[in-house]
Amino acid sequence: MYEDVLRHVYNIDTYKIQQIKGGWSAFAYKIQGNNQKEYFLKVYDKMRPSTQNMYKSLHVSSQILSWLNSYSSLTNNIVELINTVDNQCIYEDEKNIYILYKYIHGKTLRDEKISNTHFNILSNIIAKLHTYGNTISFDLTAITEDFNIFFYDNLLNFITKQYSSCSEDLKEVLSDYLNLIVNQLEGLMNIQKNIDKENINYRLCHTDIHGGNIIISDRVHLLDFDNLLLAPVEADLFAFYQKPQWELLLSCYRKTHPDYKVNEQLMEFYHLRRVLIDIWEEIELLESNAHNVDRAASLSNLRQQFKWL
Ligand SMILES: Nc1ncnc2c1ncn2[C@@H]1O[C@H](COP(=O)(O)OP(=O)(O)OP(=O)(O)O)[C@@H](O)[C@H]1O
Ligand SMILES: [Mg+2]
Repeated sequence: MYEDVLRHVYNIDTYKIQQIKGGWSAFAYKIQGNNQKEYFLKVYDKMRPSTQNMYKSLHVSSQILSWLNSYSSLTNNIVELINTVDNQCIYEDEKNIYILYKYIHGKTLRDEKISNTHFNILSNIIAKLHTYGNTISFDLTAITEDFNIFFYDNLLNFITKQYSSCSEDLKEVLSDYLNLIVNQLEGLMNIQKNIDKENINYRLCHTDIHGGNIIISDRVHLLDFDNLLLAPVEADLFAFYQKPQWELLLSCYRKTHPDYKVNEQLMEFYHLRRVLIDIWEEIELLESNAHNVDRAASLSNLRQQFKWL
């Protein structure tokens, strides 16, 4: 089905295309080429709200990933992007956006606990990524943290007004959490207003570090740089804060960043924002006209999020 794109845009003749389950924001395919090489293709449906939200930033994040592949010491530990024959990081047609990567053989960590040995390597990857800031020669405007809570009005409106007429399956899952969502949204807004935005050290942050974006082979690979941001380092570190391996991360991280001090307010901001964004994106998807939505998986993701609120 994507043979033409692969042939004309990437100059790859395909032997086999196999859909892979697992991605949330894009459809994913393992590609075997007639050249004996294997690739990983992500296809973003332009009808999907998340694709529309990411449209500009995807162009920048893919360029930076490509640059990190070529010029950083992270090369062996991050997913490798394959350019089009026109040397572009992204291809787009009327229906989709396409990004192609080298296929990584290994095991996606998902919900499995990461061993301390691999966690040390991951901590080093994060620390190295955070050595890059706004001195790299890209226009980083589209991926610079602005602490926005872009979903605030939509989520509040949905809970207070549209909820009563939404689909029944969604209504049932949300019913016990309406007040909690509204309270936490207000809490997030208060934190956001008080952030001292002028005195922050902005660094390149992955912002979506979890087991689904880590593959372990004989190495540790960090993938899915779609949410790359120039942001305070807490945008990555919050995912580990106050969790069992936090001290391990901190001791490894401070070898590269000896002066690092935790900013509690930013940790709280990123934690709450992440959970509320995930809640909003599932609601938005479930109420959208996007094709092939797996409603059961989406509702289950939503239920998981309430544990973190
Ligand atoms: N280069 C690769 N080689 C092999 N497998 C990969 C590669 N990149 C990603 N995967 C697998 O595909 C899954 C989905 O990929 P990815 O995280 O990039 O997609 P996504 O749609 O952005 O997912 P999500 O939004 O849920 O994070 C990963 O969890 C991993 O198992
Ligand atoms: Mg992912």
